[in-house]
Amino acid sequence: MVAEAEQVLQVAARHASVSIEVEEHAVGGAAIERFSEPLPERTLAAARCADAVLLGAVGAPGLDALPADKRPERALLGLRKGLGVFANLRPVRLHPALVAASALRPEIVRGTDLLIVRELTGGLYFGTPRGVEGVGEDRRARNTLSYTAAEIGRIARVAFEAARARRKRVTSVDKANILEVSQLWREVVCETARAYPDVRLEHLYVDNAAMQLLARPGEFDVILTENLFGDILSDEAAMLAGGIGMLPSASLGEGPGLYEPVHGSAPDIAGRGAANPLGAILSAAMLLRHSLGLPGEAERVEAAVGQVLQEGARTADLARGDETVMTTRAMGQRVREALERVAAGGRVR
Ligand code: IPM
Ligand code: MG
Repeated sequence: MVAEAEQVLQVAARHASVSIEVEEHAVGGAAIERFSEPLPERTLAAARCADAVLLGAVGAPGLDALPADKRPERALLGLRKGLGVFANLRPVRLHPALVAASALRPEIVRGTDLLIVRELTGGLYFGTPRGVEGVGEDRRARNTLSYTAAEIGRIARVAFEAARARRKRVTSVDKANILEVSQLWREVVCETARAYPDVRLEHLYVDNAAMQLLARPGEFDVILTENLFGDILSDEAAMLAGGIGMLPSASLGEGPGLYEPVHGSAPDIAGRGAANPLGAILSAAMLLRHSLGLPGEAERVEAAVGQVLQEGARTADLARGDETVMTTRAMGQRVREALERVAAGGRVR
């Protein structure tokens, strides 16, 4: 999937008359195999020096037995923290051609176009103290949920800025009826909102948000939430967009951006060439937009993806009924051909 996305990037770069220099570094399972650690120092150092990082999925069942600090997921968190990418953008857009691929009824799901802004470097994922102590029945595990007002304020600003460029609505998701952290979250989001009088703000408790996402997906514009809630809601939202294979993400901070599809490593189909590369390809489009300053090329890649879907190109996860299934590589190739046509046409859409 990443190989397909990289080739799309190269085609887009050629059209923009820029050259992109690509270096490959091991992370997750690949790094464990070669260096016995999930995030080698040299990988993190190279990522820090780059303009942008394109990442595949990490995780494999064979590696689940490793101690927590050696598992591939730790590399992902180390990379996010090490790059300081606190703002995770996960756009969820249902392409009209995929309405039938959604698990929801067409009249409910049609028109879904929302953006999840997930806080990515705080909350339960990183809070300390954490760990397991004791033996037998006395074993006790603990994680810490904590956010500072500064952390909340900076992610809230990202959401409000994004809303300004969209339909000017922010839904902040929390559990303020129970959690102090959520009460501070809500307070700071309200303070931040004062600088954005043109943006409409609503608050939802996370349980209700999970329900409303399925009941009225078309009404959401920007969803602002903390790390764990964002993790859960973005998998749910993926089902609105034709499945998790379609979802791209950008993680932004002060330095280089990190771009990765939202899906996991799908070990059940690994190595078969069957996976959907569109999440990775759309992540490459976000990379063009947010890190390389090439918004036109980003739009052309997105238009090319729209076009191949319109023409009926489907990987196994997207195919319904008697639709023909294509491989990862064939899908990548189709997108590149469409990109050539879109670029030759000179106009997007
Ligand atoms: C995601 C993934 C990761 C997360 C896992 C693989 C650690 O589910 O990016 O949504 O929980 O953030
Ligand atoms: Mg997730």
